[in-house]
Amino acid sequence: MDRQQHIDKLLEHFDAPRHRGAIAGADVVMTGGNPSCGDTITIYMNVDGQNRVEQIQFEGEGCTISQASASILLDRVQGKTLAEIEAIDYNDLIEELGRDIVLTRVRCATLSLSTLKNAIQKYYQGSKVAR
Ligand code: FES
Repeated sequence: MDRQQHIDKLLEHFDAPRHRGAIAGADVVMTGGNPSCGDTITIYMNVDGQNRVEQIQFEGEGCTISQASASILLDRVQGKTLAEIEAIDYNDLIEELGRDIVLTRVRCATLSLSTLKNAIQKYYQGSKVAR
């Protein structure tokens, strides 16, 4: 993907986010924030008996990159196991979003992934399911 394609993808996800909205009674709810600007993302996740993401949604307020990143990331992890998600590297996400576009906005770009990883830890802490 070239630079313009990455920008178009970010704008498209910001304008028409996937997985947007709360899940009532979700197995885990986790909010993450970027302290430098106050923007937030809240992830709602349901996990099945095989530690696989059954349903995942988000709500949030923030810049184009943070909100588009959440939409793109959640699209990618739907149906994945928690272990597969834990293995996603921050650099993978930065590459997917377009390194030259988000490099000066790494906190915006990775807020979704850090919140998701924290959501998984919270799920493990509250769950009897072994890792
Ligand atoms: Fe706040 Fe991007 S400016 S997350």
